[in-house]
Amino acid sequence: SILIVDFGSQVTQLIARRVREAGVYSEIVPFDRSPEALERMRPKGVILSGGPASVTFEETPRVPPAILESGLPLLGICYGQQTMTAQLGGKVDPSDHKEFGRARLEVVDGCDLFDGVWSAGNSYQVWMSHGDSVSALPPGFRVVGRSANAPFAAIADDENRRYGVQFHPEVMHTPDGAALLRNFCARVCGCVGDWTMAAFRETEIRRIREQVGQGRVICGLSGGVDSAVTAVLVHEAVGEQLTCVFVDTGLMRQGEAEEVVGLFRDHYNIPLVHVEAEDQFMTALAGVTDPEQKRKAIGKLFIDVFEAEAKKVGGADFLAQGTLYPDVIESVSFSGGPSVTIKSHHNVGGLPERMNMKLVEPLRELFKDEVRRLGRELGLPEGFVGRHPFPGPGLAIRIPGEVSKDRADTLRKADAIYLDEIRKAGFYDEIWQAFAVLLPVQTVGVMGDERTYDHVLALRAVTSTDGMTADFFQFPHDFLAQTATRIINEVRGVNRVVYDVTSKPPGTIEWE
Ligand code: XMP
Repeated sequence: SILIVDFGSQVTQLIARRVREAGVYSEIVPFDRSPEALERMRPKGVILSGGPASVTFEETPRVPPAILESGLPLLGICYGQQTMTAQLGGKVDPSDHKEFGRARLEVVDGCDLFDGVWSAGNSYQVWMSHGDSVSALPPGFRVVGRSANAPFAAIADDENRRYGVQFHPEVMHTPDGAALLRNFCARVCGCVGDWTMAAFRETEIRRIREQVGQGRVICGLSGGVDSAVTAVLVHEAVGEQLTCVFVDTGLMRQGEAEEVVGLFRDHYNIPLVHVEAEDQFMTALAGVTDPEQKRKAIGKLFIDVFEAEAKKVGGADFLAQGTLYPDVIESVSFSGGPSVTIKSHHNVGGLPERMNMKLVEPLRELFKDEVRRLGRELGLPEGFVGRHPFPGPGLAIRIPGEVSKDRADTLRKADAIYLDEIRKAGFYDEIWQAFAVLLPVQTVGVMGDERTYDHVLALRAVTSTDGMTADFFQFPHDFLAQTATRIINEVRGVNRVVYDVTSKPPGTIEWE
């Protein structure tokens, strides 16, 4: 295994992800708790993450002596490189030129880290984000790569198997970074690379058991992959101690409620409370047109309904939630400060405090595609695992203006046709998310010899890796034409279809 010592970088989780992709188990531990982790895990190597601090100040996080003296291979990234260098007798200075963004790294010499990936005399794209940089090497180190503003951008002490890089190999903007991290795990540390999602499943089940003990757990299902995977995992861990609650808000996609209920009751035989709350949600949404108020109204009612159900089953000590890593970072800006609220995300926020429950979040460290792999590992049907994400507030945020049952029904029908066409054309798996939006705008049309005055429907489809940025999907025109025709012919109340060609940013994926 690999121990990742965290100095507070926003992208530390990406290091863990790359290590997992190399088939190696890792744990992220805050720098001040890393000596205990070293004892407990007995890792084969240590990665020192980046972080916001500057080594040139007195009081900053340092690599604990136990790590430096362990004799284990080390890889310092950005701040990790700087503090390692300073602690081993080198020098770090604030540099005149800050480097942020894409840069070229010139490889001046080979080393185990670069083996089979980079060769001396060539230059490669890397991602930089630093003010300070190393200005003198500690004894035993040599330079293996440099950039315009960092003469010691990559350094190596082959004998002690210690490496430092100023750039971030864990981010996608360093295209060869994953291969370098793989080299560190396999070549430098000698990890075998046989760790899989099956192993993750076992580890998490053990952790859930330890955390929950004899306590009772409640889990809200949304119809999405994340909550389903969470529920199945928790059920494997603690069986009957888990109760699942599915609140049908009337704002689900077509067939979704039946699918979730069927999956849990019949396929897994996991007890499920099915609450039909459509009328309550429609009442709460009557007259509400502002997007944030809509989200808040739904969130509040959801908590009320969920709490009432939880009380009926005798309460719970724990709330299991399918929080993913991007959900954790979306609320924090890149600089580390709180970011502005673009949209208040709907989940059961506030509920744990109100009901005095602790959180069980087994997916907290995973990314969406990893959750899908875990879902397959747990035997969830492929059609369910591969499903596009669906927002908590559901169809309500795809109906700008006032939401009503009629409008939700119209949208549901059009959305189902759109998705059906996408599946038939074989685009479904290439697309991150596709859905229809029912606009509160009526336009004039002609059908047969009749004048129509009906609603506009917008179609949206985007590609993305994590939902944080997205590009609109480039459908062939005849696909759009055929889908538009089918929707207008089959869905009453819609007489015009448009396609949304906005990327994120500047647009968001959802319309509200
Ligand atoms: P936006 O619209 O912010 O969406 O670009 C990014 C991703 O998040 C989903 N989304 C939500 N998911 N609760 C959720 O669970 C929400 O309130 C929510 N709002 C947006 C959206 O569908 C997309 O995948």
